[in-house]
Amino acid sequence: MLKSGQAWFSPQVIGEIVDREGTPILFLSKEVMRQKYETLSGELGEAKIYYALKANPHLEVVKLFHELGAGFEISSLGELNLLLDLSIPPDKIISSNPVKSEAFIEAAYSYGVGLFAFDSYTEVEKLACLSPGVRLCLRLAVSNEGSEWPLASKFGIDIERGVELLVQAKRKELKPYGITFHVGSQCTNPKTWIEAIQKSKLLWELAEREGIKLHLLNIGGGFPIQYTKPVPQISEIAQVINRTVRGIFTEDGEAEIIAEPGRALVGEAGVLVATVLAKAVRQGQRWLYLDIGVFNGLMESIGGIKYPLEVAKEGQASSYILAGPACDSFDVISTGVELPELEIGDKVYIMSAGAYTTAYASQFNGLPIPHTYLI
Ligand SMILES: Cc1ncc(COP(=O)(O)O)c(C=O)c1O
Repeated sequence: MLKSGQAWFSPQVIGEIVDREGTPILFLSKEVMRQKYETLSGELGEAKIYYALKANPHLEVVKLFHELGAGFEISSLGELNLLLDLSIPPDKIISSNPVKSEAFIEAAYSYGVGLFAFDSYTEVEKLACLSPGVRLCLRLAVSNEGSEWPLASKFGIDIERGVELLVQAKRKELKPYGITFHVGSQCTNPKTWIEAIQKSKLLWELAEREGIKLHLLNIGGGFPIQYTKPVPQISEIAQVINRTVRGIFTEDGEAEIIAEPGRALVGEAGVLVATVLAKAVRQGQRWLYLDIGVFNGLMESIGGIKYPLEVAKEGQASSYILAGPACDSFDVISTGVELPELEIGDKVYIMSAGAYTTAYASQFNGLPIPHTYLI
């Protein structure tokens, strides 16, 4: 068992698979994903959970969450096709991407997907033409304070312009149905949810004054997982959300609530196993090169995500620059990484690696995307 005490994952359990399949390889624990789903859906009480497929679209992951009763949040035709292959029913699918291709809208609408997000007039026009009468959620711009992977600037609209857009959507005979927001991924500040929910209520009331009755609040994703820094417990964030939502949205049963977590359902269920490929000392700095890097799985490390690392060896730790295998200087995973002396061929276990790793990976430089192995 590793220091992190993950009983499901021990070099004994996975050793044979690693010898057979090679590295890099991603192990995902079904049991941990099940626990994460049950904890989050239990803590969030009345919110329906739609798993954000982008975090890890592995078929077995989708099957597991489907069995557990989750719905799915998708963004593209590719993600829709994946769900169609598994016969996931349309009432279990929503799309909260405010920027959708026409082909995706057409296919999703004809399958019966009935809830799309929008935050621009061009999207209203597209949706009115390709999915007449469909229910819409307006993506509200909210603060991403405390998020380690912010999503704020690319999406969302302010309250005033949001009301106008809802009115325009209604004029086009679409059904303005709710509000959606995202506090940014890996958001460690519970207050950010409070402000976002309060802001949604303002928009909700202004819309009502324009004769638009909304029914649904989608509180998005953003729930944090344990990397190297301490984060609030899900129960703490959920309590804050529940209190705020109940105080202003659901006390009279007015609103349906949904959440669309990605990272929090799969991140801590994953361990990537990598192998040391090379070592070097340059300008007095020690470099350690792994067979996984920012291109073939650890893309989020360029945005500052720092994965906990474990190794089987013990001994005096030194500071390393940890880099990937690509013949490209951008492929640096992290600096100031403390590790004991390792040799070529030693394994490095990259913890909390179930989300946004294989999903983001490319085959740049002919490097392999890690296989995923469910345990
Ligand atoms: C619209 C939407 N919903 C949900 C998520 C999932 O967020 P997280 O993985 O932070 O829970 C994302 C992530 O980018 C998103 O864009």
